[in-house]
Amino acid sequence: MPWETVELNDGNHIKTIGYGTWTIGKGDQAVDQIAQALETGYDHIDTAQSYLNQEEVGQAVRESGLKRSDLFITTKFSGRDGLSIPEAIKQSLDKTGFEYVDLYLIHHPRLVGDDVVGAWQQMEELKAKGYARSIGVSNFGIDDLEKLKDAKTKPAVNQILLHPYVWKQQKPLVEYCQANGIVVEAYSSLISPVTRMPGGPVDKPLAKISERTGATYDQILLAWAKAKGAVVVTNSSKKARLLGYLDAGDLLLTDEEIAAVDEGGSQQGVEGYGLFARVLPGVALFSVAFVVSRVLISAGVW
Ligand SMILES: NC(=O)c1ccc[n+]([C@@H]2O[C@H](COP(=O)([O-])OP(=O)(O)OC[C@H]3O[C@@H](n4cnc5c(N)ncnc54)[C@H](OP(=O)(O)O)[C@@H]3O)[C@@H](O)[C@H]2O)c1
Repeated sequence: MPWETVELNDGNHIKTIGYGTWTIGKGDQAVDQIAQALETGYDHIDTAQSYLNQEEVGQAVRESGLKRSDLFITTKFSGRDGLSIPEAIKQSLDKTGFEYVDLYLIHHPRLVGDDVVGAWQQMEELKAKGYARSIGVSNFGIDDLEKLKDAKTKPAVNQILLHPYVWKQQKPLVEYCQANGIVVEAYSSLISPVTRMPGGPVDKPLAKISERTGATYDQILLAWAKAKGAVVVTNSSKKARLLGYLDAGDLLLTDEEIAAVDEGGSQQGVEGYGLFARVLPGVALFSVAFVVSRVLISAGVW
Protein backbone atom coordinates (compact mmCIF):
# COMPACT_ATOMS: atom_id res chain seq x y z
CA MET A 1 0.00 0.00 0.00
CA PRO A 2 2.63 2.58 -0.88
CA TRP A 3 0.73 5.81 -0.49
CA GLU A 4 3.98 7.41 0.59
CA THR A 5 4.37 10.65 2.44
CA VAL A 6 5.70 13.65 0.55
CA GLU A 7 7.60 16.59 1.89
CA LEU A 8 5.91 19.97 1.83
CA ASN A 9 7.85 23.15 1.02
CA ASP A 10 8.05 23.98 4.75
CA GLY A 11 9.72 20.67 5.65
CA ASN A 12 6.59 18.99 7.05
CA HIS A 13 5.28 15.77 5.53
CA ILE A 14 1.85 14.82 4.22
CA LYS A 15 0.45 11.34 3.59
CA THR A 16 -0.52 11.06 -0.07
CA ILE A 17 -4.03 9.70 0.57
CA GLY A 18 -6.53 11.40 2.85
CA TYR A 19 -10.06 10.66 4.03
CA GLY A 20 -12.44 13.59 3.45
CA THR A 21 -15.46 14.34 5.62
CA TRP A 22 -17.43 16.63 3.28
CA THR A 23 -20.34 14.26 2.65
CA ILE A 24 -20.54 12.30 5.91
CA GLY A 25 -22.84 14.66 7.80
CA LYS A 26 -22.69 15.20 11.54
CA GLY A 27 -23.33 13.40 14.80
CA ASP A 28 -22.84 9.73 15.63
CA GLN A 29 -23.03 8.60 12.04
CA ALA A 30 -20.14 10.92 11.15
CA VAL A 31 -18.09 9.78 14.16
CA ASP A 32 -18.66 6.16 13.08
CA GLN A 33 -17.58 6.91 9.52
CA ILE A 34 -14.39 8.65 10.63
CA ALA A 35 -13.70 5.85 13.12
CA GLN A 36 -14.07 3.32 10.29
CA ALA A 37 -11.55 5.25 8.18
CA LEU A 38 -9.07 5.40 11.07
CA GLU A 39 -9.48 1.68 11.77
CA THR A 40 -8.95 0.93 8.09
CA GLY A 41 -5.60 2.67 8.16
CA TYR A 42 -6.28 6.25 7.10
CA ASP A 43 -4.15 8.65 9.09
CA HIS A 44 -4.87 11.82 7.12
CA ILE A 45 -8.28 13.40 7.68
CA ASP A 46 -9.58 16.36 5.70
CA THR A 47 -12.36 18.48 7.17
CA ALA A 48 -13.48 22.13 6.96
CA GLN A 49 -15.39 24.76 8.89
CA SER A 50 -18.21 24.36 6.33
CA TYR A 51 -18.48 20.55 6.65
CA LEU A 52 -19.88 21.10 10.16
CA ASN A 53 -18.19 17.99 11.54
CA GLN A 54 -14.96 19.23 13.08
CA GLU A 55 -16.19 18.14 16.56
CA GLU A 56 -16.86 14.69 15.16
CA VAL A 57 -13.30 14.51 13.80
CA GLY A 58 -11.95 15.36 17.24
CA GLN A 59 -14.21 12.84 18.96
CA ALA A 60 -13.37 10.02 16.54
CA VAL A 61 -9.64 10.67 16.93
CA ARG A 62 -9.84 10.72 20.73
CA GLU A 63 -11.92 7.53 20.82
CA SER A 64 -9.57 5.77 18.39
CA GLY A 65 -6.76 5.73 20.92
CA LEU A 66 -4.37 6.77 18.14
CA LYS A 67 -1.69 9.27 18.96
CA ARG A 68 -2.52 12.75 17.68
CA SER A 69 1.08 13.07 16.49
CA ASP A 70 0.63 10.01 14.23
CA LEU A 71 -2.24 11.69 12.39
CA PHE A 72 -2.39 14.44 9.79
CA ILE A 73 -5.43 16.67 10.22
CA THR A 74 -6.49 19.35 7.74
CA THR A 75 -9.21 21.89 8.24
CA LYS A 76 -10.20 24.97 6.28
CA PHE A 77 -11.30 28.56 6.68
CA SER A 78 -14.67 28.53 4.93
CA GLY A 79 -15.83 32.03 5.87
CA ARG A 80 -18.64 30.83 8.12
CA ASP A 81 -20.22 32.38 11.21
CA GLY A 82 -18.81 35.83 10.38
CA LEU A 83 -15.44 34.78 11.78
CA SER A 84 -12.11 36.18 10.66
CA ILE A 85 -9.25 33.79 9.86
CA PRO A 86 -7.68 34.08 13.36
CA GLU A 87 -11.10 33.59 14.98
CA ALA A 88 -11.98 30.67 12.70
CA ILE A 89 -8.83 28.67 13.47
CA LYS A 90 -9.44 29.14 17.20
CA GLN A 91 -12.99 27.89 16.70
CA SER A 92 -11.64 24.88 14.78
CA LEU A 93 -9.18 24.07 17.56
CA ASP A 94 -11.97 24.39 20.14
CA LYS A 95 -14.28 22.18 18.14
CA THR A 96 -11.74 19.47 17.41
CA GLY A 97 -10.10 19.70 20.81
CA PHE A 98 -6.67 19.68 19.13
CA GLU A 99 -3.84 21.99 20.05
CA TYR A 100 -2.89 22.38 16.41
CA VAL A 101 -3.90 21.25 12.95
CA ASP A 102 -1.37 19.90 10.51
CA LEU A 103 -2.70 21.91 7.60
CA TYR A 104 -4.98 24.94 7.46
CA LEU A 105 -6.38 26.03 4.10
CA ILE A 106 -8.25 29.01 2.73
CA HIS A 107 -11.16 27.05 1.28
CA HIS A 108 -11.73 29.30 -1.74
CA PRO A 109 -10.23 32.58 -2.96
CA ARG A 110 -13.66 34.25 -3.07
CA LEU A 111 -13.77 34.00 0.74
CA VAL A 112 -11.01 36.58 1.05
CA GLY A 113 -12.19 38.87 -1.75
CA ASP A 114 -9.54 41.21 -3.12
CA ASP A 115 -7.34 40.94 -0.08
CA VAL A 116 -5.58 37.67 -0.79
CA VAL A 117 -2.28 39.08 0.45
CA GLY A 118 -3.76 40.36 3.74
CA ALA A 119 -5.55 37.07 4.32
CA TRP A 120 -2.36 35.18 3.65
CA GLN A 121 -0.48 37.30 6.22
CA GLN A 122 -3.08 36.19 8.77
CA MET A 123 -2.42 32.59 7.73
CA GLU A 124 1.32 33.15 8.22
CA GLU A 125 0.65 34.52 11.70
CA LEU A 126 -1.34 31.50 12.77
CA LYS A 127 1.43 29.23 11.52
CA ALA A 128 3.95 31.29 13.52
CA LYS A 129 1.76 30.87 16.62
CA GLY A 130 1.78 27.09 16.13
CA TYR A 131 -1.97 26.74 15.50
CA ALA A 132 -1.25 25.16 12.12
CA ARG A 133 1.93 23.31 11.21
CA SER A 134 1.45 24.09 7.51
CA ILE A 135 -0.73 26.55 5.62
CA GLY A 136 -2.15 26.36 2.15
CA VAL A 137 -5.01 27.19 -0.16
CA SER A 138 -7.81 25.50 -2.03
CA ASN A 139 -9.46 26.20 -5.36
CA PHE A 140 -6.84 28.86 -6.11
CA GLY A 141 -6.09 29.54 -9.77
CA ILE A 142 -2.76 30.68 -11.17
CA ASP A 143 -3.81 34.36 -10.87
CA ASP A 144 -4.63 33.92 -7.18
CA LEU A 145 -1.34 32.12 -6.52
CA GLU A 146 0.62 34.78 -8.39
CA LYS A 147 -0.59 37.31 -5.80
CA LEU A 148 1.30 35.28 -3.19
CA LYS A 149 4.54 34.90 -5.10
CA ASP A 150 6.40 37.35 -2.83
CA ALA A 151 4.92 35.99 0.39
CA LYS A 152 7.34 35.04 3.17
CA THR A 153 5.76 31.59 3.39
CA LYS A 154 4.63 29.87 0.21
CA PRO A 155 1.34 27.97 0.27
CA ALA A 156 2.29 24.38 1.06
CA VAL A 157 -0.62 22.93 -0.92
CA ASN A 158 -3.40 23.88 -3.30
CA GLN A 159 -6.38 21.53 -2.94
CA ILE A 160 -8.24 21.45 -6.26
CA LEU A 161 -10.84 19.58 -8.28
CA LEU A 162 -8.94 17.00 -10.32
CA HIS A 163 -10.46 14.24 -12.43
CA PRO A 164 -10.01 13.23 -16.07
CA TYR A 165 -12.81 15.46 -17.37
CA VAL A 166 -11.13 18.59 -15.98
CA TRP A 167 -7.53 17.53 -16.61
CA LYS A 168 -7.19 19.63 -19.75
CA GLN A 169 -8.27 22.80 -17.90
CA GLN A 170 -6.38 22.03 -14.69
CA LYS A 171 -3.09 20.89 -16.26
CA PRO A 172 -1.54 24.40 -16.43
CA LEU A 173 -2.48 24.97 -12.78
CA VAL A 174 -1.02 21.62 -11.72
CA GLU A 175 2.17 22.41 -13.65
CA TYR A 176 2.35 25.89 -12.10
CA CYS A 177 1.98 24.45 -8.59
CA GLN A 178 4.59 21.79 -9.20
CA ALA A 179 7.04 24.31 -10.69
CA ASN A 180 6.58 26.48 -7.59
CA GLY A 181 6.91 23.79 -4.94
CA ILE A 182 3.20 23.74 -4.05
CA VAL A 183 1.80 20.24 -3.52
CA VAL A 184 -1.43 19.62 -5.43
CA GLU A 185 -4.18 17.89 -3.48
CA ALA A 186 -6.84 16.34 -5.72
CA TYR A 187 -10.44 16.21 -4.59
CA SER A 188 -13.45 14.57 -6.25
CA SER A 189 -11.15 12.47 -8.43
CA LEU A 190 -13.85 9.83 -8.74
CA ILE A 191 -16.17 12.14 -10.65
CA SER A 192 -16.51 10.55 -14.09
CA PRO A 193 -17.74 7.01 -14.57
CA VAL A 194 -17.73 6.20 -10.89
CA THR A 195 -19.81 8.90 -9.27
CA ARG A 196 -21.42 11.20 -11.79
CA MET A 197 -20.62 10.66 -15.43
CA PRO A 198 -21.10 7.08 -16.58
CA GLY A 199 -21.12 6.48 -20.30
CA GLY A 200 -18.49 9.10 -21.17
CA PRO A 201 -15.29 8.71 -23.18
CA VAL A 202 -13.18 7.90 -20.11
CA ASP A 203 -15.06 4.62 -19.62
CA LYS A 204 -13.27 2.88 -22.49
CA PRO A 205 -9.68 3.40 -21.31
CA LEU A 206 -10.76 2.57 -17.75
CA ALA A 207 -12.32 -0.69 -18.92
CA LYS A 208 -9.09 -1.59 -20.73
CA ILE A 209 -6.94 -0.80 -17.69
CA SER A 210 -9.33 -2.74 -15.47
CA GLU A 211 -9.00 -5.74 -17.79
CA ARG A 212 -5.19 -5.63 -17.58
CA THR A 213 -4.87 -4.96 -13.86
CA GLY A 214 -8.05 -6.33 -12.31
CA ALA A 215 -8.46 -2.97 -10.55
CA THR A 216 -11.82 -1.26 -10.11
CA TYR A 217 -12.58 2.08 -11.77
CA ASP A 218 -12.30 3.97 -8.47
CA GLN A 219 -8.86 2.47 -7.85
CA ILE A 220 -7.72 3.39 -11.36
CA LEU A 221 -8.93 6.98 -10.99
CA LEU A 222 -7.04 7.38 -7.71
CA ALA A 223 -3.92 5.86 -9.29
CA TRP A 224 -4.38 8.29 -12.21
CA ALA A 225 -4.48 11.30 -9.84
CA LYS A 226 -1.42 9.93 -8.02
CA ALA A 227 0.38 9.56 -11.35
CA LYS A 228 -0.26 13.27 -11.92
CA GLY A 229 1.76 13.90 -8.76
CA ALA A 230 -1.24 14.76 -6.60
CA VAL A 231 -2.06 13.86 -3.01
CA VAL A 232 -5.62 12.49 -3.13
CA VAL A 233 -8.47 13.25 -0.77
CA THR A 234 -11.33 10.82 -1.14
CA ASN A 235 -14.13 9.15 0.79
CA SER A 236 -16.26 6.07 1.04
CA SER A 237 -18.89 4.94 3.49
CA LYS A 238 -17.87 1.34 2.78
CA LYS A 239 -14.95 -0.39 4.44
CA ALA A 240 -14.26 -2.62 1.43
CA ARG A 241 -13.91 0.44 -0.81
CA LEU A 242 -11.72 2.24 1.69
CA LEU A 243 -9.41 -0.80 1.68
CA GLY A 244 -9.51 -0.86 -2.11
CA TYR A 245 -8.43 2.79 -2.25
CA LEU A 246 -5.45 1.98 -0.03
CA ASP A 247 -4.52 -0.91 -2.33
CA ALA A 248 -4.65 1.50 -5.27
CA GLY A 249 -1.41 2.97 -3.96
CA ASP A 250 0.30 -0.06 -5.54
CA LEU A 251 -1.36 0.36 -8.90
CA LEU A 252 1.02 1.53 -11.58
CA LEU A 253 -0.47 2.78 -14.83
CA THR A 254 1.60 2.85 -17.99
CA ASP A 255 2.28 6.14 -19.78
CA GLU A 256 0.02 4.94 -22.61
CA GLU A 257 -2.81 4.21 -20.18
CA ILE A 258 -2.51 7.61 -18.54
CA ALA A 259 -2.47 9.27 -21.96
CA ALA A 260 -5.60 7.32 -22.98
CA VAL A 261 -7.47 8.48 -19.85
CA ASP A 262 -6.33 12.09 -20.48
CA GLU A 263 -7.48 11.85 -24.07
CA GLY A 264 -10.89 10.45 -23.03
CA GLY A 265 -11.27 13.24 -20.47
CA SER A 266 -10.44 15.91 -23.02
CA GLN A 267 -13.19 14.71 -25.36
CA GLN A 268 -16.04 15.53 -23.05
CA GLY A 269 -15.52 19.27 -23.49
CA VAL A 270 -17.03 20.19 -20.15
CA GLU A 271 -15.77 22.35 -17.35
CA GLY A 272 -15.98 21.49 -13.70
CA TYR A 273 -18.94 19.40 -12.78
CA GLY A 274 -19.61 17.89 -16.17
CA LEU A 275 -23.00 16.42 -15.39
CA PHE A 276 -24.38 19.87 -14.67
CA ALA A 277 -22.85 21.14 -17.87
CA ARG A 278 -24.67 18.41 -19.77
CA VAL A 279 -27.98 18.76 -17.99
CA LEU A 280 -28.19 22.55 -17.77
CA PRO A 281 -28.94 23.30 -21.46
CA GLY A 282 -31.93 20.92 -21.29
CA VAL A 283 -33.16 22.52 -18.07
CA ALA A 284 -32.77 26.02 -19.54
CA LEU A 285 -34.65 25.06 -22.73
CA PHE A 286 -37.48 23.48 -20.73
CA SER A 287 -37.75 26.57 -18.50
CA VAL A 288 -37.94 28.96 -21.46
CA ALA A 289 -40.59 26.78 -23.16
CA PHE A 290 -42.57 26.63 -19.91
CA VAL A 291 -42.51 30.42 -19.39
CA VAL A 292 -43.44 31.12 -23.05
CA SER A 293 -46.37 28.68 -22.88
CA ARG A 294 -47.63 30.32 -19.63
CA VAL A 295 -47.47 33.76 -21.25
CA LEU A 296 -49.31 32.54 -24.36
CA ILE A 297 -51.99 30.80 -22.25
CA SER A 298 -52.54 33.86 -20.02
CA ALA A 299 -52.76 36.09 -23.13
CA GLY A 300 -55.42 33.76 -24.51
CA VAL A 301 -53.32 33.08 -27.59
CA TRP A 302 -52.87 29.41 -26.79
N1 LIG B 1 -11.58 21.95 -1.13
C1 LIG B 1 -12.75 21.78 -1.69
O1 LIG B 1 -13.38 22.72 -2.20
C2 LIG B 1 -13.32 20.40 -1.74
C3 LIG B 1 -14.42 20.11 -2.57
C4 LIG B 1 -14.91 18.80 -2.60
C5 LIG B 1 -14.30 17.81 -1.84
N2 LIG B 1 -13.24 18.13 -1.03
C6 LIG B 1 -12.62 17.10 -0.17
O2 LIG B 1 -12.42 15.92 -0.89
C7 LIG B 1 -13.11 14.84 -0.24
C8 LIG B 1 -13.58 13.84 -1.26
O3 LIG B 1 -14.52 14.46 -2.13
P1 LIG B 1 -15.60 13.62 -2.90
O4 LIG B 1 -16.53 12.96 -1.94
O5 LIG B 1 -16.17 14.48 -3.97
O6 LIG B 1 -14.63 12.50 -3.49
P2 LIG B 1 -14.58 11.31 -4.45
O7 LIG B 1 -13.42 10.57 -3.94
O8 LIG B 1 -14.56 11.76 -5.87
O9 LIG B 1 -15.94 10.52 -4.25
C9 LIG B 1 -16.22 9.77 -3.11
C10 LIG B 1 -17.54 9.08 -3.36
O10 LIG B 1 -17.37 8.12 -4.39
C11 LIG B 1 -18.26 7.07 -4.16
N3 LIG B 1 -17.75 5.88 -4.83
C12 LIG B 1 -16.51 5.37 -4.74
N4 LIG B 1 -16.40 4.27 -5.51
C13 LIG B 1 -17.61 4.09 -6.08
C14 LIG B 1 -18.11 3.13 -6.98
N5 LIG B 1 -17.34 2.15 -7.44
N6 LIG B 1 -19.41 3.24 -7.38
C15 LIG B 1 -20.18 4.25 -6.91
N7 LIG B 1 -19.75 5.22 -6.05
C16 LIG B 1 -18.48 5.12 -5.65
C17 LIG B 1 -18.26 6.92 -2.66
O11 LIG B 1 -19.53 6.41 -2.30
P3 LIG B 1 -19.68 5.25 -1.19
O12 LIG B 1 -19.79 5.94 0.11
O13 LIG B 1 -20.97 4.59 -1.60
O14 LIG B 1 -18.50 4.34 -1.31
C18 LIG B 1 -18.08 8.36 -2.17
O15 LIG B 1 -19.32 8.93 -1.86
C19 LIG B 1 -14.23 15.53 0.54
O16 LIG B 1 -14.74 14.75 1.59
C20 LIG B 1 -13.51 16.76 1.03
O17 LIG B 1 -12.73 16.43 2.15
C21 LIG B 1 -12.74 19.38 -0.99
